[in-house]
Amino acid sequence: MLEHLKVSDFGTPRRESEQEVTLEIDGNQVTVPKGTSLMRAAVDAGIQVPKLCATDSLEPFGSCRLCLVEVDGRKGYPASCTTPAEAGMKVRTQSPKLQELRKGVMELYISDHPLDCLTCSANGNCELQDMAGVTGLRNVRYGFDGANHLKSEKDESNPYFTYDASKCIVCNRCVRACEETQGTFALTISGRGFESRVSPGMDEPFMESECVSCGACVEACPTATLQEKSVIWLGQPEHSKITTCAYCGVGCGFKAEMKGNEVVRMVPWKDGAANEGHSCVKGRFAWGYATHQDRITTPMIRKKITDPWQAVSWEEAIAYAASEFKRIQAKYGRDSIGGIVSSRCTNEEGYLVQKLVRAAFGNNNVDTCARVCHSPTGYGLKQTLGESAGTQTFKSVEKADVILVMGANPTDGHPVFASRMKKRLREGAKLIVIDPRKIDIVKSPHIQAEYHLQLRPGTNVAVVTALAHTIVTEGLLAEPYIAERCDDKSFNEWREFVSRPENSPEATETTTGVPAADMRAAARLYATGGNAAIYYGLGVTEHSQGSTTVMGIANLAMATGNVGREGVGVNPLRGQNNVQGSCDIGSFPHELPGYRHVSDTTVRNEFEAAWGVTLQSEPGLRIPNMFDAAIDGSFMGLYCEGEDIVQSDPDTQHVAHALEAMECIVVQDLFLNETAKYAHVFLPGSSFLEKDGTFTNAERRISRVRKVMPPKAQYADWEVTMLLSNALGYPMNYKHPEEIMAEIAALTPTFSGVSYQLIEQLGSVQWPCNAAAPNGTPTMHIDKFVRGKGKFIITQYVASDEKVTRKFPLILTTGRILSQYNVGAQTRRTDNNQWHSEDRLEIHPVDAEDRGITDGDWVGIQSRAGDTVLRAVVSERMQPGVVYTTFHFPESGANVITTDNSDWATNCPEYKVTAVQVMPVTQPSEWQREFSRFDKVQAELLEQRHAAESVVGK
Ligand code: SF4
Ligand code: SF4
Ligand code: SF4
Ligand code: FES
Repeated sequence: MLEHLKVSDFGTPRRESEQEVTLEIDGNQVTVPKGTSLMRAAVDAGIQVPKLCATDSLEPFGSCRLCLVEVDGRKGYPASCTTPAEAGMKVRTQSPKLQELRKGVMELYISDHPLDCLTCSANGNCELQDMAGVTGLRNVRYGFDGANHLKSEKDESNPYFTYDASKCIVCNRCVRACEETQGTFALTISGRGFESRVSPGMDEPFMESECVSCGACVEACPTATLQEKSVIWLGQPEHSKITTCAYCGVGCGFKAEMKGNEVVRMVPWKDGAANEGHSCVKGRFAWGYATHQDRITTPMIRKKITDPWQAVSWEEAIAYAASEFKRIQAKYGRDSIGGIVSSRCTNEEGYLVQKLVRAAFGNNNVDTCARVCHSPTGYGLKQTLGESAGTQTFKSVEKADVILVMGANPTDGHPVFASRMKKRLREGAKLIVIDPRKIDIVKSPHIQAEYHLQLRPGTNVAVVTALAHTIVTEGLLAEPYIAERCDDKSFNEWREFVSRPENSPEATETTTGVPAADMRAAARLYATGGNAAIYYGLGVTEHSQGSTTVMGIANLAMATGNVGREGVGVNPLRGQNNVQGSCDIGSFPHELPGYRHVSDTTVRNEFEAAWGVTLQSEPGLRIPNMFDAAIDGSFMGLYCEGEDIVQSDPDTQHVAHALEAMECIVVQDLFLNETAKYAHVFLPGSSFLEKDGTFTNAERRISRVRKVMPPKAQYADWEVTMLLSNALGYPMNYKHPEEIMAEIAALTPTFSGVSYQLIEQLGSVQWPCNAAAPNGTPTMHIDKFVRGKGKFIITQYVASDEKVTRKFPLILTTGRILSQYNVGAQTRRTDNNQWHSEDRLEIHPVDAEDRGITDGDWVGIQSRAGDTVLRAVVSERMQPGVVYTTFHFPESGANVITTDNSDWATNCPEYKVTAVQVMPVTQPSEWQREFSRFDKVQAELLEQRHAAESVVGK
């Protein structure tokens, strides 16, 4: 095997046991936990037993018979992968007889194998090849004349990997990977004996089966049978680096396997604590956008958005942006400009943007897209528990007995965590789902939720309060825990409040749509079913009462004693890869790094001393306030790094008007996204493959992002922010993001122990990481809450202003799909489009029939904010009265419909509740026609830049 690609494989999974057994293998004494296989014990003793069907990410299967050993006092030759080590055993892994048996096994495999090793894509990285070498096979007695599979057809339907049945040794690893690791159960071995073959679904091509293209089977396959197409095209990689996925908040570790500066494949990292060697279709395969032809790699400027773009040097672009910002501030005042930094950026980049705004712009007008997703989490958990973050590791779910999923769709949004959760559910943990839709996890192979509380969108607070009512009035409180750890006064007030008859499941049934009996039963299960863990997502936060629901969730967890140990907790499933991090490092207008308010003089003094400037003590503008101020004429300049506010923020037309009103918009991005079409300066961004830094996932885990190729446009994003700051007269001169992290650590108590060196040493680290927790904090609030006593907060339900009426009788709610990611700027530029090439409107059959809508019809969706047109999918996943769409394609205009209602505490938009009417139509909406026109004009203005350049070149 190619040396650099080797990963240690212990053959069978690690067993945990307090009991240990000592045995002898090939004369070596070895002590292992009880239950460990002989194969794994041998590896511990430094001995590799030949194997093909075993790998340590999967339970042993015992089919290949290559790992046979001899055990004193036992008859025959047991398979070492399926035989547990016992005290006092004497095992031999090598003997002439074993050698003969193994050779015989290999001979049978090889006699039905193409033996085109020299031209095989796995050449140098094939376990069958390795085993032929290890067993000393020198010739094969059987010819290829008999029946064989050498002419089997390849299945090339999946865009990312092939299935070449002629190379299959029927080891079952792929089938087990799909079941045990991924939990999709898409593969079976069909046929018997010689006829047995791997088959997706009912003998369908991969693309027509249940397969979700996670790649677990490809990873598990020991031969070239399941092989990445990129490896077939490019050949085996020659070096690799560990980095972190830049899509979702799971934060999977990957090994970027490279040839020169070209990625050959992304292999999920076995030692990545967030994913333990698993992946989803996005991180595993959807990285082609990084080298897509649409990338813009030269800086551009223009005076007006109706002008063609001018390609300029970095110096010119930066000088122009700086002079515009200075001009605007001179004319409209210090507070007339601001910055937005995406939570897709690294911690170090986010930190620099907020520093630029506070120190160089001289105001606090900085915000991040966490505003529009998890800002209520930050607020709600800080109020109740004392820290704006989830309480657990992902691994903790392995100890949960009851899992409550609320307003999250993990199989689409957080797939690798979903696989982990599903594994625990298959082991017997009970599931409660609170969601308006019948999402996949409600019922999937070997999983069935005990309770699906299919609430009406917008009634989360009434639901959490009714659950609390049941817990309190049925005497299910964890009284000793509350007495010891929570604040008495707030608890008593909360208890009195939730006990009121108007908060009972029966009284709120008509509001929530959840049958009272189910509500009560779910509350009982959560309170009494053992370790109970809550996982929630944007279906909780993106509401006018998002912060109230978060606090309601924390109340439930405290009231039942479910915070402060493994298997329990309150766990926000963060959307973007670095939502947690961008909040931690001070991207909000009211907080300096470490969630410290800008009005805190002591904290401000520390930053003023370190940064050599005077800081403002008043919070700056939030994103929606920036838009309003732009329309009012007081906010005229914006630096926007990595965020596509036009597509992702609600009420698109309002956002577009705000941008049109501004005098200088600087967009730093990979592509000319929707926001860049309103920009005056375009600064090319860098992908996660082109820079160093860190991301912090939903577990508070800080992991390294490592540069595997040089920036396509010369600079990494953090360097561009430095250039702008320097041009504005505020010097920044970091040589490497490591220095930025050192500054964050020096100024932020919860990060004081964090360093690149520590991350290198541990693989990743979960904050708080400081003198009290030098190696980080996997579980929070263990002995007491961060705020001291846990605080209960009253959760009074207030119906959203967004009401259904005769004119707008349905509620629209929005979300994501597995294969696309948010605004789709990256995933739309990959083959992931083969799974989802347009956003569609899901509608219940009854609502569809009432309107004469059938599957695939074009339908107009009209709200108080605007209207758009999508194709319909008639689906029983919906409840009557509720429709649903994704928002991955700009032309869909999902956010043309969403309103500017927002969370009372944080302004997080109410994406999940929009009253709409849906009707069949025959043509695009007016907004869509205008979108197409504007898009065409902007494409031409970009095209003209190319023309100007080529003229100059001549
Ligand atoms: S790619 Fe994933 S879902 Fe598809 S068959 Fe393989 S393991 Fe199963
Ligand atoms: S496809 Fe690969 S993993 Fe699956 S049975 Fe065949 S050789 Fe084994
Ligand atoms: S689960 Fe999230 S972090 Fe992991 S590979 Fe998929 S997109 Fe990337
Ligand atoms: S590795 Fe043990 S039987 Fe295949």
